[in-house]
Amino acid sequence: MSGSVPQPCILSANLSYGLSMTWRESSDFNPLRARKTLSSQFDAKMGTLGIGDPLLKSLSLTLPSLRPFPSMAGPGVSIPSSQGSLWAFATAPSRSEIFDIAENLAALFAHDFVLEDRMETFTYREGRDLSGYVDGTENPSGERAFSVAISNGTSAPRGSSFAAVQRWEHDLDLLHQHSRSEQDRMIGREIESNREIDDAPISAHIKRSAQESFSPDAFIYRKSMPWAQGEGKGLEFIAFGSSLDPFERILRRMAGADDGVRDALFTFSTPVTGGYYWCPPVSGGRLDLTVS
Ligand code: HEM
Repeated sequence: MSGSVPQPCILSANLSYGLSMTWRESSDFNPLRARKTLSSQFDAKMGTLGIGDPLLKSLSLTLPSLRPFPSMAGPGVSIPSSQGSLWAFATAPSRSEIFDIAENLAALFAHDFVLEDRMETFTYREGRDLSGYVDGTENPSGERAFSVAISNGTSAPRGSSFAAVQRWEHDLDLLHQHSRSEQDRMIGREIESNREIDDAPISAHIKRSAQESFSPDAFIYRKSMPWAQGEGKGLEFIAFGSSLDPFERILRRMAGADDGVRDALFTFSTPVTGGYYWCPPVSGGRLDLTVS
């Protein structure tokens, strides 16, 4: 039976602690075993699982709407791709539960995959980026979130979603060299009130990314979370869409690839990873990898 229900964690709110993990295929990779593990052993209640283009090809599956994350360049901007084979994202109320989920996933994928990247994330204050700005204000919610994030079956199996995952590393010292009002104008919102600044420059992040200003509009459902490890800190940017196109159009504009205007975010933050993943629908709580 073909599944048509999205993975449940895509649309549920992020909890306080999170984990983003990426795997590549191991030298012992066995496509039949890997497919079986994915479709019969991953419990979708634990988190969201996404399949990257390299794994799709190894499993001999064809899904034209999935592609590898493109590296991109704009004026003074270089956006890397670090496309993985498999990606998982989970959130939980405590770090203990995150630890358990990580152990569980590591055991599940031990034969066919090698863990390439692992980043623990957390909710900062009441849902702010580490720059201090509220993140997620213009996110679609309710039924609108469902139609933005989940495929209705036209270009991918019904209930599928596509994830764009991009780690940004912040240099907060650089940000704090600017006055509060300059910082507000980089983002396009006032830090305390979260009020939108109507006359912010066109390089302001919310001007670059304004979803309704694209034609056609470019809505995405964001579930980003901050990270901090050692000296490093930033945002694990995560967005879901019924296709990858809206995300990519926003990113191109942020990079200044269309009009030469670079998003002011690049003043203090740099993208260091980038991957695209197909999040298959579920049937009876298990991933349904049927593509046609
Ligand atoms: C350092 C990385 C980033 C930070 C700190 C950041 C932060 C923010 C903040 C503070 C807002 C305003 C509040 C809100 O509506 O959520 C915002 C809005 C938004 N961001 Fe980002 N963002 C980052 C990267 C990205 C990327 C890579 C994309 C997509 C390619 C993106 C897409 C959006 C969109 C679509 C909005 C809402 C715009 C609107 O329709 O008003 N952001 N972001």
